[in-house]
Amino acid sequence: MTGSGTWAPRFANARYPTFGPVLIGIRVQGFRGVSDLNLQFKSPVTAISGLNGTGKSTVAQLAAAGFRQPPDHDWYRYYVNHFFPVSVADPEPFTPGAQVQYLYAADSGFQTVTVSRSAKSWSGQHRQPERATYYRGFAQFIPKVERRDLSIYGAASLELGEANPLDPTAAQHVGRILAVPYDHLGFTEVLTTNKAATLAMAGRGGRRYSENHMGTGEGRVLYMVNTLETAPPKSLVIFEEPETSLHGDAQVRLAQYFVEVALRRGHQIIITTHSSAILGQLGRDSVVYLRRTPLGGGVTATHGLSTYQTDSHLQREGRTPGGITVCVEDEFARCLASEIFRTADPDLLSGCSFLTIGGGQEIPAAVKLLRGAKVRAVGLSDGDMPHNGTGGVRTLPGTEPPEKEVFAHPAVKDYFAAAPFEIDLDEVLAGVSDHHDYARTVAARLMMDEPTVVGVACRTYAAAHQAGAFNDVVGFVRSEVGDRR
Ligand SMILES: Nc1ncnc2c1ncn2[C@@H]1O[C@H](COP(=O)(O)OP(=O)(O)O)[C@@H](O)[C@H]1O
Ligand SMILES: [Mg+2]
Repeated sequence: MTGSGTWAPRFANARYPTFGPVLIGIRVQGFRGVSDLNLQFKSPVTAISGLNGTGKSTVAQLAAAGFRQPPDHDWYRYYVNHFFPVSVADPEPFTPGAQVQYLYAADSGFQTVTVSRSAKSWSGQHRQPERATYYRGFAQFIPKVERRDLSIYGAASLELGEANPLDPTAAQHVGRILAVPYDHLGFTEVLTTNKAATLAMAGRGGRRYSENHMGTGEGRVLYMVNTLETAPPKSLVIFEEPETSLHGDAQVRLAQYFVEVALRRGHQIIITTHSSAILGQLGRDSVVYLRRTPLGGGVTATHGLSTYQTDSHLQREGRTPGGITVCVEDEFARCLASEIFRTADPDLLSGCSFLTIGGGQEIPAAVKLLRGAKVRAVGLSDGDMPHNGTGGVRTLPGTEPPEKEVFAHPAVKDYFAAAPFEIDLDEVLAGVSDHHDYARTVAARLMMDEPTVVGVACRTYAAAHQAGAFNDVVGFVRSEVGDRR
C-alpha cells in the first residue's frame, strides 16, 4: 500500500500550510435519493467507490461546487444547479429541503458552509472559501472521433497552428504511467477557416500522431496529468472513473501518481472509481465506500476496503454455495490458513472460500457485514493482531505476522537450505525490514515467482506440525459456522 499522506496529524492543530483550505467533510441531504450521507475526506487523495447508483457522482459533483474560484482564473465556477438542473425530464433531482453542508479546514481553523435551496435558487455558495477547482467527468475524454469535432469534420481543410509542448514533468509522468517511451508530447492548435481547436499530439519512434489516433486511455492520461501539473498549486481536482480504458498496471501507476502529485503540489484529489487496482494502492484513509442500506433507506459511507471487498464477494459467482467465508488480511495469510486446513481438516478446506480484506483491523467489520448478509463467515487475523474469538475472529498460529512465523520455522529454513535451493533464509532476510517483502526477496534470489515461494513455505510449515497442532484454530472455525447452520 502506498502511504497516501493522511491529514489526521495536521487536523489536530488546524493549520494546513501545505494544502490550503481543504474540504474535509460533506453532508449531503436530499439529492438523487441520497437522503442523508455524511462523508469525510481524511487524506489528500480520496477515492469514492460503491455499486452503481450509490451516489458517487452526486458526492463528487457537490464537492466540485464547494469552492469559490480565485479572481485571476477565468474559468467559471461550478454551481450546484449546474449539476442538478430541474426540468420536465427531471422535476425532482433533489427534495424540497435539500441541503449540503461543507466542512473545510483552513489556515485560520475550521469553517462550515451550508448550501440550501431557498425559493428557486441555492444560497450559501458565495460564503465558500476559495480554491481552484477542476471537475473532469467523462466528456473531456470522449475521443474527438466520437463527437463531431472540428479536427474530424474539418480534416480536409485543417491547418496546424501554434504548438505547445507538454510541461516536461507532466510528459515524464504520462510516459511512466503508460510505460511508453515518448519522444514528444504536447498540444497543437488546429484551425479551419473560421474555427480553432486544440489537439493533443504525441511523438513516438520518429512518428507523430494526434489524439485522434491515440488509444483512449493514452489520451485520458495525457489530459489528466496535464490538468494536475498545470493547475495552480493547492487545487481541488475531481476525476470520474479515471481508470476508464486503462490497462491494470497503468491503473496502479496512475493511483501512485495521484498520491505523489497531491503531496508534491498540495492538491486535493477526489476520484470516483470501480477499480480494485486503484483502491488497492491507496491507504485506508483514502478509500470511502458508499452503500445503499438494505431497507431502501439512504446511503452510508464506510472508510477502508472491507466493505468494498465484502460487497464484491457477495456478488461474485462461484462462491461455494452454503460454504464458509474465511476473512484474512492478505494473500500470505490466505495461503497459510488454507495449508493449515489442508493439513488438519481437508473437508473444511473444500467448503471454504477466502476473502482477503487488506487491513487486519478491518476483519471484524467484514465478518459482521457478511454475517449480516446471512453468510457463514469467520475471521482469522495475523498473529500480531490478536483476537480471542469474539465476533467470530480468532488469530492464526503464532504471535507474529505470518511471514515471520513461517520463514523463521526450522522446517522451512531446512527446506530452503537443502538442494536444489541451498540458501540460508536468515541471511537472505537479514536486511529486509518489512516482512511483506520476505517472500518477494526469497523469490528473487531463487528466480522463482512469489506465489510459488509463499505456497511451498506455507505447505512446509503446516506439514511440519503434529496432528492436532491446529485443533484450536480449525475447531474454532468449525464451531463458529456450525452454530449458524
Ligand atoms: N430524482 C431522483 N430521486 C431519487 N433518486 C434518484 C433521482 N435521480 C437519480 N437518482 C438515483 O441516483 C443514482 C445516480 O446517482 P450517482 O451519484 O450518479 O451514482 P453513481 O455515480 O454512484 O453511479 C441513480 O442510480 C438513481 O438511483
Ligand atoms: Mg457515477
